[in-house]
This record gives sequence, C-alpha cells and structure tokens, in this order.
Amino acid sequence: MAYGRWLHRSKMIHFKNVSKKFAVGKSAVTRLNFSIPVGEFVFIVGPSGAGKTTILKLISSQLTPTSGTIKVNNIEISPKGCKKKIELRQKIGFVFQDFKVLSYKTIFENVALSLKVKKNSEKEIKTSVKQALKTVGLADKELLFPLQLSAGELQRVAIARAIAGDRDIILADEPTGNLDPKTAWNIMSILKKLEGKKTIIIATHNTDIVNSMRKRVITLREGKIISDEKKGKYKF
Ligand SMILES: Nc1ncnc2c1ncn2[C@@H]1O[C@H](COP(=O)(O)OP(=O)(O)O)[C@@H](O)[C@H]1O
Ligand SMILES: [Mg+2]
Repeated sequence: MAYGRWLHRSKMIHFKNVSKKFAVGKSAVTRLNFSIPVGEFVFIVGPSGAGKTTILKLISSQLTPTSGTIKVNNIEISPKGCKKKIELRQKIGFVFQDFKVLSYKTIFENVALSLKVKKNSEKEIKTSVKQALKTVGLADKELLFPLQLSAGELQRVAIARAIAGDRDIILADEPTGNLDPKTAWNIMSILKKLEGKKTIIIATHNTDIVNSMRKRVITLREGKIISDEKKGKYKF
C-alpha cells in the first residue's frame, strides 16, 4: 500500500513557480503552481493567448520554462532542459485541433506510427493498434485512408494514436475546435472513458462541454491561473 501510494505520487504532474517568456513579448505564463494526480481529468480554459498551449508544451518538454520547475512522472524539466526527454515523450500522447493524420497512410499505419519509433515488435504493434482503434470505436476502419473518414472519425484516429502503447498522459489541444457539437460530445465521451486509467488534460474553449462535465477546471488569464476548481465551470 505504502509503495503503491509512493508510485502514485511519483507519477503526478507538478508545476512549481513556472514561468515561460519567449524572446519577444511578455511572459506567456507566469508563476504557475499546480499538481495533477494520475488519472485525473482536467480542463484548461481561458481566452486565446492565455497560455493553454504553452502549458501543454511545457508538460511534454517541447518547451523549457524560463524559471521554475516541472516534474512529470518524476522526470524534471527545468530552465536547463530535460535529461529524459525521450522517456518522457513516450509516456505522453498528443491530440490536436487539426488531427494531424497523414493522408497517404492507412488508419492502421497512422496509429502504428507512434509505436514504430519505440522498437516494438510487429506483433506488439499490431496488438496495441488494434486495441487503441477498438477503444475509439474504429476497429472496422483500419484499412481505410483518412480521406474516407469524417472529421469526428479522424479525431478518433488521433486519440487512438495518442493512447496506443503504454501512455500515462493524454494532452489534447482544443480537440473539438473543428467539430460540430454532436461530434464534439462524442470525442469528449471517448476521452472521459480514459479517466482513471490515464491522466487527461484538455485545453478548450468549449463552454457547453466544460459546464456540463463538471470536472476540474484550471482557468487562465494572461498567463496566470485565476481559478482552479474541482468541479468547475467555464468562467468569462
Ligand atoms: N513561439 C512563441 N514566440 C513568442 N510568443 C509566443 C510563442 N508561442 C506563444 N507565444 C505567446 O504566448 C502567449 C500564450 O500563447 P498560447 O500558450 O499559445 O495561448 P493559448 O493556447 O491559450 O491561445 C501568447 O501571448 C502568445 O502570443
Ligand atoms: Mg492554443
């Protein structure tokens, strides 16, 4: 039990006094302090330019903080950088607003791509891809190409790609931004099913979804956290 608790703590995401300033402009985010436990489902909301994408990129060490320290699964990201970038990124799946699927590859191949870099065996890849496609309800579409799928289905492919393999954390940057309301809900329900198994962090503008789901909501304004609530709502 004690060991299990320790494991849990080590897998959290911690931001301690984190600021990021780019070469031009004022700070993108300023003195952020928050922790996200394993398996939590969190929305990051705030107007355009508030710093949502910056936070997701800091978690995945695509950016290094200007000051402060981040810990993800006990891996440290500091102004000096991150010594275990590759290990860290293998634990993180990304979902984007514009899906970012490759049009000349099949659905199966698109999902398999994220696994091939990890030197898995062909058999392991096949099992993981099929499992991920089943989770998002696309088991029967693996041989099709992206042009043959709807926008909602393409976003489900992107989620499958993000969860395939042994990932702990799913980061989604405005994943429903290009979808109609019904399809957006479908995508959210798929992400919600992962709650508890994976840590899910979603940057979004979708007021209706945030207000109905009553999950933790971290609200940003001009790079600062103005509220962080357990069963939050979208604040304007
Ligand atoms: N590469 C960059 N260079 C300079 N400024 C940037 C860069 N990326 C983001 N910013 C600035 O940082 C702030 C936060 O941006 P971002 O995290 O993308 O906000 P959001 O995702 O909430 O719209 C904005 O003012 C944006 O212009
Ligand atoms: Mg953004």
